[in-house]
Amino acid sequence: MSGFSELVATRFSCRAYRTDPVPRAALEQILEAARRAPSACNRQPWRFAVVTEPALRSRLLDEGLLPGLGMTWAAEAPVILVMGMKKSMITHRIAPLLSQVEYPLLDLGIAGEHAILQATELGLGTCWIGWIRPKVVRRILGWPADILPQSLITVGWPTSRPEEGSPRLPLADIVTWR
Ligand SMILES: Cc1cc2nc3c(=O)[nH]c(=O)nc-3n(C[C@H](O)[C@H](O)[C@H](O)COP(=O)(O)O)c2cc1C
Repeated sequence: MSGFSELVATRFSCRAYRTDPVPRAALEQILEAARRAPSACNRQPWRFAVVTEPALRSRLLDEGLLPGLGMTWAAEAPVILVMGMKKSMITHRIAPLLSQVEYPLLDLGIAGEHAILQATELGLGTCWIGWIRPKVVRRILGWPADILPQSLITVGWPTSRPEEGSPRLPLADIVTWR
């Protein structure tokens, strides 16, 4: 991969995986990229669970997903990265009351995409899964009450890549120049 633009263009939501395991060193590199993400007041509200154990992955997918999207493909992914949010009192509960900005959600999104882009650079496929039951996921993981899962990210070796990426709105529709 020659540069950042190519990395961004290469990433896609991967929904077909080989079942081969992902080396621990690759997972640590992915987590390190997430850990380097910026966050409001440097609060670092993210917490991660790396789930490779087959029975636990099955439970996450069987019980932790909401119905309706038919995400059976996720069972092939050898790794499920769970993104959890641990809120602080001032930055995450009081400041948003004044600003109306959801800082910890922004922070988790940045960290998750750092992880995903690092995975992409390593040739791995990923997909955000936000259609989840956060409290069920928390119980399955045995996380404490102050950490709420916000997303799963599947990680594994893609079986194929789409010829074209998903469509995007044109810049003219989403940008205001002043
Ligand atoms: C916060 C978030 C939640 C998502 N949740 C799901 C999901 O539950 N299931 C799914 O199949 N894809 C999910 N996606 C993937 C999107 O559908 C996908 O990013 C979008 O269609 C654009 O396609 P692309 O990622 O291939 O460019 C999610 C993406 C984001 C960023």
